[in-house]
Amino acid sequence: MKKLLSASVMCADLMNMKKSIQDLEKADIDYLHIDLMDGSFVPNITLGFDFVNAVKKLTDIPFDIHMMVNDPARFLDLMNLGKDDYLCIHYEGDIHAQRTLAKIREKGCKSGLALNPQTPVNCYEHLLDYMDMALVMTVSPGFAGQKIFAGAEDKVRKTRKFLDDAGFKSIPIEVDGNISPENGAKLSRCGAEIFVLGTSSLFIKGKDMTESANAFRAGL
Ligand code: DX5
Ligand code: ZN
Repeated sequence: MKKLLSASVMCADLMNMKKSIQDLEKADIDYLHIDLMDGSFVPNITLGFDFVNAVKKLTDIPFDIHMMVNDPARFLDLMNLGKDDYLCIHYEGDIHAQRTLAKIREKGCKSGLALNPQTPVNCYEHLLDYMDMALVMTVSPGFAGQKIFAGAEDKVRKTRKFLDDAGFKSIPIEVDGNISPENGAKLSRCGAEIFVLGTSSLFIKGKDMTESANAFRAGL
């Protein structure tokens, strides 16, 4: 699978979002990573469902929605999404993850399942048939600008082996949190294929977004 870049728009200039989206289109970004938080699963909020629907009208870049919320099924129908969009939930935030992942597919979207750093890889075991993507959090979720956790490379390697051994080679791994060019290159060698780019690689004051995106790609 081609290595894909997913821009974390919570790291963009929130007061000039339209310009940021245009810059991301110019940079040929593959996905818009939109972090949705409920202030309970993570102690932060930032973006919401009306924002998702407003940005959907602005651009054709597919969405990579990251739901850092408890009981995400409550919110699925608040978003106007389609077949090219990922809707990713957290294992730790949903006691009915299997049903929610099935609902995401019924909605016509691609389903993703995220694990926090401390959550073991085998938590994916009974959900693989309902997953179109495995999101390996490389920081504890909720905030941009954090440092990658110590075991991130090992966890991505273990996740790739787990998926392959279970017969799910087609499920790509996405990594999210402090994905700098250096961390991206290391995690790419461990099996990551979709890279969430935030303050560590793309949204850097004074740096051209296209140049940053191209530099990141070149390093993979
Ligand atoms: C953190 C979010 C990430 C974050 C990435 O909880 O899920 O998408 O915005 O930002 P950086 O790259 O700064 O870690
Ligand atoms: Zn995210």
